[in-house]
Amino acid sequence: MKRLGVNIDHVATIRNARGELHPDPLKAAKIVKKAGADSITIHLREDRRHIKDIDAKKICKIKNLLVNLEISTNPKIVNIALKIKPNYVCIVPENRKEITTEGGLDLTKNRGKLIKIISKFKKKNIRTSLFINPSLKDIEISKQIGTDCIEIHTGHLSNLIKSNKKYSNELSKIKKSSIMASKFGIEVHAGHGLDYKSTRILSNIPSIKEFNIGHFLIGESIFYGLFSVIKKFKKILKKKK
Ligand code: PXP
Repeated sequence: MKRLGVNIDHVATIRNARGELHPDPLKAAKIVKKAGADSITIHLREDRRHIKDIDAKKICKIKNLLVNLEISTNPKIVNIALKIKPNYVCIVPENRKEITTEGGLDLTKNRGKLIKIISKFKKKNIRTSLFINPSLKDIEISKQIGTDCIEIHTGHLSNLIKSNKKYSNELSKIKKSSIMASKFGIEVHAGHGLDYKSTRILSNIPSIKEFNIGHFLIGESIFYGLFSVIKKFKKILKKKK
């Protein structure tokens, strides 16, 4: 069965809109776990737009909860991550003006930096992942960098599906990249912009083992509740190889 990781950043976005304590991402993390998600994802951004240091610290201390911390290559953020020891890290590009993570990492430019960061996390037994575009060249570089996993940026595919445009080329890039990565022994994840339809389409790719879903899932939970929405996603991912 494919795994579901739930990104709860936007619980913090709602909380921060009032500068108060409710809704608490810590409570969301516990509910998400009870509802059957396999892990939770939080992104400690340099601008602390949603998740704050204290949230990340508290969430990483919850027992029996697998936490995937998204981080940039900023040394201060890397050091915080090394201290609070999540189970997993996913390294993402960050740009202060973006609304969300807009594309994959530039692996050619950041190769040396990434090799050093990944080896630091590996020494602490923290699973590493690189958020990348679906490109064979990037899969090749990911292998050389020595990451445990890659997460393929599905934003472009999701946008094509949502706007009823042809998506077969983009889907084929994702399929080819996933196959190549798993041949190299790199575990493949997918994330960004996913909803029920795009998740269903991607769940037919055997080499994708984990889906990380945030904005749509949290938005839909306003109408139907976290339990029901997580159950629906789990059903989509059930019995898929
Ligand atoms: N995966 C990664 C690496 C991301 O940066 C994000 C966005 O924070 C997501 C998944 C989730 O994307 P969305 O909120 O669009 O579902």
